[in-house]
Amino acid sequence: MFRLQAQHACLAWAFEAIRGRPGIVAELGLGHGRTYDHLRNLLPDREIYVFDRANEAYPDCQPPEQYLVIGDVKDTVPALYGKLGGKVVLTNTDLGTFDASLNPVIAAMVSHIVPPLMAPGGIIMSDLELDLPDYERVALPPGAPADAYRLYRKPI
Ligand SMILES: C[S@@+](CC[C@H](N)C(=O)[O-])C[C@H]1O[C@@H](n2cnc3c(N)ncnc32)[C@H](O)[C@@H]1O
Repeated sequence: MFRLQAQHACLAWAFEAIRGRPGIVAELGLGHGRTYDHLRNLLPDREIYVFDRANEAYPDCQPPEQYLVIGDVKDTVPALYGKLGGKVVLTNTDLGTFDASLNPVIAAMVSHIVPPLMAPGGIIMSDLELDLPDYERVALPPGAPADAYRLYRKPI
């Protein structure tokens, strides 16, 4: 619950940051679909592409088939650069695991595959610390404890 509150505080900030900027939203890690459900409720006019290895979302949190991309993101995200490249204004990535030894590998992969998606001024919100030297690191909003999430903004 604590983590969900932190995530919602960061997303609320991100929604303001992208207001007035046209573009697509990407969710890496559908999981049970709770975050996706939050995104679609608060961003009803955005196209939201959702990526996961498998669809294990609750029945009432299902993305439309044409926006759900099943497979390993290291393959499925680059496969969509032609369609989505440079057009994403918000990426939320939530791929970390409880096996801490794997998280640096996941973070390096995310740092590599996500930037080509991003539009100028776009926001990346991540559960893991990313290596994005060309991005501005944004301080977390009030209500989000340090280390819960990370926010990065691509310069315009
Ligand atoms: C912590 S859960 C996401 C929780 C989700 N935000 C929610 O609201 O329920 C992480 C998800 O990332 C997916 N995942 C992890 N690594 C992945 C990868 N390399 N490619 C695709 N999906 C991956 C897992 O299958 C899992 O469903």
